[in-house]
Amino acid sequence: SKSTISRRTFCSEMNDIIELDAAKRLAAETAVDQYVTEDTKVLGIGSGSTIVFVVQRLAERVWKEGTLPELICVPSSFQARQLILDHNLTLGDLDRNYKIDVYIDGADEVDSSLVLIKGGGGCLMQEKIVASCAKTVVIVADYTKRSLRLGEQWCKGIPIEVAPIAHVPVKHKIEELFGGEAQLRIALKKAGPIVTDNGNFLLDWRFVAKREYDWDEVNKAISMIPGVLETGLFVNMAHKCYFGMANGTLKVQS
Ligand code: 5RP
Repeated sequence: SKSTISRRTFCSEMNDIIELDAAKRLAAETAVDQYVTEDTKVLGIGSGSTIVFVVQRLAERVWKEGTLPELICVPSSFQARQLILDHNLTLGDLDRNYKIDVYIDGADEVDSSLVLIKGGGGCLMQEKIVASCAKTVVIVADYTKRSLRLGEQWCKGIPIEVAPIAHVPVKHKIEELFGGEAQLRIALKKAGPIVTDNGNFLLDWRFVAKREYDWDEVNKAISMIPGVLETGLFVNMAHKCYFGMANGTLKVQS
């Protein structure tokens, strides 16, 4: 019957969520335990759902185990800032803590050379700024984010943060330069464009998945278009990525 099918669909979706959460948690907790030591003074905190598990593990280490006496956390977004405050961790900022020991963040897709697509949650600009201040950048993700080449997993495209006045010209310039389609990210129920923590708009550029792109070159070219504030392409930034796998194991890529 209809209700049995929908119950079955609901249960299978719930199982997927539980499995994904277990994978995210494993990646997050392993990264924290391997990279954050009692000598870590300043830690950059990324954004997204996997980062929630990072902050929970940090709070356990600080409050239950007492193993991180000096830790200062620098957020990459409003969400990260709230997480730090909610877990009663020490909040830092780039004015005082511009040298970061380790930055931990999630990603939307990671290719075999550790090129990342980020910004699914719209925080790419501050994420890239905070990551650029870190000695070591560690990525934590579930198995759905792992690709040989970009475009295998992430069909929503590469997020680009743009000044509101420039979203139409930037869209056309990206499409002329590199093909595909760049779409303005719209809020749910078409309530208007999504606005970032920095008051800007986002384009999601669906590139041509089958085309060979030099991501370093693409990133530099798009960054040069007037009105572009940051791209969600992170090239040569990540040092290591922990993937939680569906079968409960961990894959490490560096
Ligand atoms: C936010 C991001 C996130 O790190 C990325 O979207 C991954 O999020 P999640 O851990 O929820 O899958 O870049 O702008």
